[in-house]
Amino acid sequence: MRLSLAFIAALCASTASAATAVDYTTIKTKKGDILPDFSYVGYRQGEHKLPSTQPHNASVVIAASKSSSDDQTKAIQDALDKVGAAGGGVVELAVGNHYVAGASIVIPSKTWIRGADAAKSIVIVKGDARAVFSIGTPDAKATTGAKAAITATYVPIGAASVAVDDASIFKVGQNVYVQRPATAEWIRANGMADLVRDGSPQTWIKAGTLIKQPRTITAISGNTITLDVPLTDSIEKKWGAGSVQAFTWPSQSQGAGIETMQIVLQPSCSGQPISDTSCQFQAIVFQPFALDSWASKINMTGFVTGFVKVFAGSRRITLENLNSIRDKVSDGSHGWGSDIAVEGTQILVQNCQSVGITDARSFAITTSSQTAGPNAILNHKSSLASQVIQPHQRWAHGLLVDNSQSGIDLSNRNNAGSGQGWAINGAVAWNSDAAFQIQSPPLGVNWGIGMRGKAGANSNGTLIATGETVTPKSLYTAQLQARRAATSS
Ligand SMILES: *[C@@H]1O[C@H](CO)[C@@H](O)[C@H](O)[C@H]1NC(C)=O
Ligand SMILES: *[C@@H]1O[C@H](CO)[C@@H](O)[C@H](O)[C@H]1NC(C)=O
Ligand SMILES: *[C@@H]1O[C@H](CO)[C@@H](O)[C@H](O)[C@H]1NC(C)=O
Repeated sequence: MRLSLAFIAALCASTASAATAVDYTTIKTKKGDILPDFSYVGYRQGEHKLPSTQPHNASVVIAASKSSSDDQTKAIQDALDKVGAAGGGVVELAVGNHYVAGASIVIPSKTWIRGADAAKSIVIVKGDARAVFSIGTPDAKATTGAKAAITATYVPIGAASVAVDDASIFKVGQNVYVQRPATAEWIRANGMADLVRDGSPQTWIKAGTLIKQPRTITAISGNTITLDVPLTDSIEKKWGAGSVQAFTWPSQSQGAGIETMQIVLQPSCSGQPISDTSCQFQAIVFQPFALDSWASKINMTGFVTGFVKVFAGSRRITLENLNSIRDKVSDGSHGWGSDIAVEGTQILVQNCQSVGITDARSFAITTSSQTAGPNAILNHKSSLASQVIQPHQRWAHGLLVDNSQSGIDLSNRNNAGSGQGWAINGAVAWNSDAAFQIQSPPLGVNWGIGMRGKAGANSNGTLIATGETVTPKSLYTAQLQARRAATSS
């Protein structure tokens, strides 16, 4: 049958009109919380392309292993160190198998490692548990300094500035934690004071813990501090006074990357329980305080604990086009692994997939205790319905799940684990056909906008345009365009 052009045009028009326009800038809770601004995620907060998108000749090319008993760990590390010490550049793995059996391979600043071919440059991982590729070293720590008290009664999610009792102790350009204490009263009011599992009390968050939001001061006017990135958690005086505290960024890899290769664990750990200590490692880790770094176009096979971990403290990291492949039936006797663990801040995960055989279960993406936003996941896919995106525990904040084909779970995990409880605040799920569970904590809010999949029981979060496709199609893209238009005008 031939369709007339007019008929095709009518079809397009009807598809377009099926979308419901949502003005995301006007969504607001009674207390004044607005949707977090997720546009600041990723390498250099989305304002620059990855360095690897420009042509770069390799500084060093490493030939494939001659035999499976080779160990190229040292050759690769020496090449990275040499290129890093010379100011940065590219180390390239030639087509073929590259066996590594030794220590973690550390990628220094302004240096990246790439395969010559995404399918044919293959790193085969043997030997003991260790982070195979490590952006930075594990020991970096921040030092904290001067502190001022927040004076406002309520600082909402989305606030770009905070008033303090004495701003004269700070400087523009300084790194600060905007933080609130988890007081016993706040823990109780969130329903988390009396968790019990198997007859024993469970601790959700220890009273006195500081829930931190790492930011940089961009302006100071009187006693009001303007932050580079709006807040993703609220701070309410009634539940314990918040503060702003200076910290120094430690020396760590910046502008480092890994891309275009396969990383294969041999033998595969996919069928092992996550308690197997010989399997407790990831293919790629971003260490604490790694900054403006990335991983892209990589297929990883056979890891069980997880494939990529982005540690707390790291900032502005892009993960894109990564496939986590589980090639054996999972053993869930000690829980499930987390394919991508997002624990840093301003992390962008886009166009990644959890892939595997039918019985390969895992969490597609998790956040952890007090993981600080904003973080965003775009266009994520899982091959199995059980591979959900799930903030896993203890009040992470500011996560966007945008156009995900993986299930979404933003909820109270109660006494699961050792009292994982309310796992997230200030999260937004945007345009998704996947099954979802979206709940709001007593003292917080999570939003679901354009959720068309099956709703879990007690999805009492703030749901808008449920069952509908909404425009803008992507919240992240709309927020980034809006911010860049505002700063260029
Ligand atoms: C790469 O090397 C070739 C041959 O030396 C040279 O012509 C080209 O300009 C180099 N490209 C870059 C991006 O440096
Ligand atoms: C990577 O894995 C995905 C998913 O299994 C597959 O579609 C793709 O072809 C693989 N890419 C390469 C370069 O092998
Ligand atoms: C949502 O339900 C949970 C119980 O599962 C409750 O603790 C919480 O206060 C409810 N949230 C709202 C916003 O009503």
